[in-house]
Amino acid sequence: MIVTTKELFQAAYGKYAIGAYNINNLEQCMGLFQGNLASKAPFIIQISKGARSYTNKLMLESIIRCADEIFPEAIFAVHLDHGDEATCMDCISSGFYSSVMIDASSRPFEENIAITKRVVAAAHAKGLVVEAELGQLGGVEEHVSVDEADAKLTDPAQAQEFVERTGVDSLACAIGTSHGAFKFTGNQGLHFEVLAAIQKRLPGFPLVMHGSSSVPQDEVNRINAAGGKISGAKGVDANEFRKAAKLGVTKINIDTDGRLVWCRVHREHFLNHPENFDLRPPGKEFMAAYSDFIAAKNIKLGSVGELENVRAAVKK
Ligand code: G3H
Ligand code: 13P
Ligand code: ZN
Repeated sequence: MIVTTKELFQAAYGKYAIGAYNINNLEQCMGLFQGNLASKAPFIIQISKGARSYTNKLMLESIIRCADEIFPEAIFAVHLDHGDEATCMDCISSGFYSSVMIDASSRPFEENIAITKRVVAAAHAKGLVVEAELGQLGGVEEHVSVDEADAKLTDPAQAQEFVERTGVDSLACAIGTSHGAFKFTGNQGLHFEVLAAIQKRLPGFPLVMHGSSSVPQDEVNRINAAGGKISGAKGVDANEFRKAAKLGVTKINIDTDGRLVWCRVHREHFLNHPENFDLRPPGKEFMAAYSDFIAAKNIKLGSVGELENVRAAVKK
């Protein structure tokens, strides 16, 4: 059942965070549903602009519609990740997405507000909800490149003004993370003091944490042992998710870690089975491994076992 992120956030706020997982293909989609159902967790499927154009924007939609039929007990939101204004409008009119993210965080404050307001008006008119972003994450995003040195944490006073003036439903805040596998060069970590200050100004308002992959060293080591060349990768400590959830983070975005699972499974498969050229055996291994990965993440997020509570809440 497709619901809005707003409905999921109402159930989760202050208690746990919902996993927001990016997908690009049917193997990820199957593993995603299986892992969330195995752990009885509600979840958010994220589709980026790049994922929409990987094959054709309708392809992922059809795969997700199909998964909804195959797994009727699942409860999830379908969310556009890091949209520009045009992509948001396209998703809003598609009738399929339940929420969109407008990412105008690279624009000046007033321009970010103006763009976000237009998207909020269009989305709310059709019953969709909107996530926006304020502050700048380090690292590289699809259409925004920000030097780690220039990464700007979200200003709590500006966050309050932004939310009040835009009417947005949730806010992605920059608290020290960045996208991709190379988040930290030293001992940096999450800026919980920024989250606490934002929550104080916006009590009960859902916050979003991007760039939340953990980049497990064990996964990286296995990839490298099977022929990969990834060095210096470092991510967010997943044991900090619950602390962030208590401070108002209701959505935690994870993409890179799923890509690492894909890479590890395929590298190891072909290393161990050099005679194989069939795509189905590694595909099956990946779906099972991705399902296990999702279930393990949900434990860290605290969303395990919350499915029936959410079902009861959305029925009311
Ligand atoms: O934040 C970006 C997500 O990891 C999506 O990545 O734009 O390569 O699909 P992508
Ligand atoms: P990671 O690169 O840490 O997985 O972040 C994903 C993300 O924020 C998607 O919007
Ligand atoms: Zn992101």
